Amino acid sequence: MITGLDHIAIAVPDLQKAIERFMNDFGLEFKGTEDVDTAKTSTAFFPVGSTQIELVHPLNGAGPIAKYLEKKPGGIHHLCFRSDDIEADVARLKAKGYQFLSEEPSLGAHNCRVIFIHPKSADGVLIEINQPSDEH
Ligand code: CO
Repeated sequence: MITGLDHIAIAVPDLQKAIERFMNDFGLEFKGTEDVDTAKTSTAFFPVGSTQIELVHPLNGAGPIAKYLEKKPGGIHHLCFRSDDIEADVARLKAKGYQFLSEEPSLGAHNCRVIFIHPKSADGVLIEINQPSDEH
């Protein structure tokens, strides 16, 4: 079951500049950065209420965010729903015809298991589903 909006991810060409914007200009709490090798991203998290802003930047200049930034100057990249049972949610959505970017969830930031729904299945929006590793 989907239980919340875990985060909204923004692709940024200059991670440090964007961190300073969200921290200093918008006054949000900065929770630090994390490199996610599996997704080839450097990420930075800012909790806001019950959700978070996740800044995503290419790790070592490669990966899907690098490709995204070749086409756009930056922008809202995906949103992420939190699930309390990712296998059940994926199975339910697959049965309804949703296409996913991978067969199985993989390990994402914060040791969450994550999977992405193809944007063509959801009005052009890239949707991530995650499940924190402390829930199963
Ligand atoms: Co994400």
